Amino acid sequence: MLKENKIYRMDCFEFLDKIDNNSIDLAVIDPPYNLKKADWDTFNSHKDFLDFTFKWIDKLIPKLKKTGSLYIFNTPFNSAHILQHLIDKRLVFQNWIVWDKRDGLASAKRKYVNGQETILFFTKSRDYTFNFESIRIPYDSENRIAHAKVKGILKRGKRWFPNPKGKLCGEIWHFSSERHKNKINGKTPKMPHLTPKPLDMIERIVKASSNKNDFVLDCFIGIGTTAVACKNLHRNFIGCDNSSEYVAIANERLKNRNIFKQD
Ligand SMILES: C[S@@+](CC[C@H](N)C(=O)[O-])C[C@H]1O[C@@H](n2cnc3c(N)ncnc32)[C@H](O)[C@@H]1O
Repeated sequence: MLKENKIYRMDCFEFLDKIDNNSIDLAVIDPPYNLKKADWDTFNSHKDFLDFTFKWIDKLIPKLKKTGSLYIFNTPFNSAHILQHLIDKRLVFQNWIVWDKRDGLASAKRKYVNGQETILFFTKSRDYTFNFESIRIPYDSENRIAHAKVKGILKRGKRWFPNPKGKLCGEIWHFSSERHKNKINGKTPKMPHLTPKPLDMIERIVKASSNKNDFVLDCFIGIGTTAVACKNLHRNFIGCDNSSEYVAIANERLKNRNIFKQD
């Protein structure tokens, strides 16, 4: 077994072979999408991409505890295939989450502009952690809520008062990409990774689907966003990436260095 709270420079298959079965509470997986934006994201065919994807999924499933949860990022098109595979493997479907990226959209004139990514949320069984209280989000209508805080709103004969921590979190998530969050004078900086996930989005997943001291796995960890989220939220993590450059940056990040800041 590998050591906890460490990021390994390793191929995902070799890494998963070294993880104990039934040991992982939460897997947060942001794998290649086959969008051909980098060598690591390029496959000869859609079939090759799916063969690779299903192979790591099949290795990962036994590593999850019976109470474990699994989140997988991808395009909506690829996610449709991945969803069917997870159902065939008898995992329990919970949500098809839409990440509305809000910015950085490429233009498209023969179809609607792609502005979302999918996050599939599955669990291994119907007995799993879901901390809905810890991921409440602000209500949409400030005026209505301000009024309701004082007098309440009459609903089916009962007075309803808004929850001071906000409303329950839905399936459409609005997070700006790291690239756009770190804009300087309107210019997007060169990022240390092609596709880093927003830290606040990964923290939402970690808060919802794990508890303090739980064990979280990410076998395509890039520059370590899942590890940083776990460190901030007092979860244990283990991860790998096959790029030594990304693993080095992830380790810098874990030492609290702001790698997005321009010198
Ligand atoms: C979408 S990125 C993950 C980004 C990450 N979520 C972050 O926020 O930095 C996918 C990562 O998978 C890595 N990768 C691709 N193929 C791999 C493989 N066979 N084994 C391990 N890592 C791999 C790439 O180097 C890349 O960093």
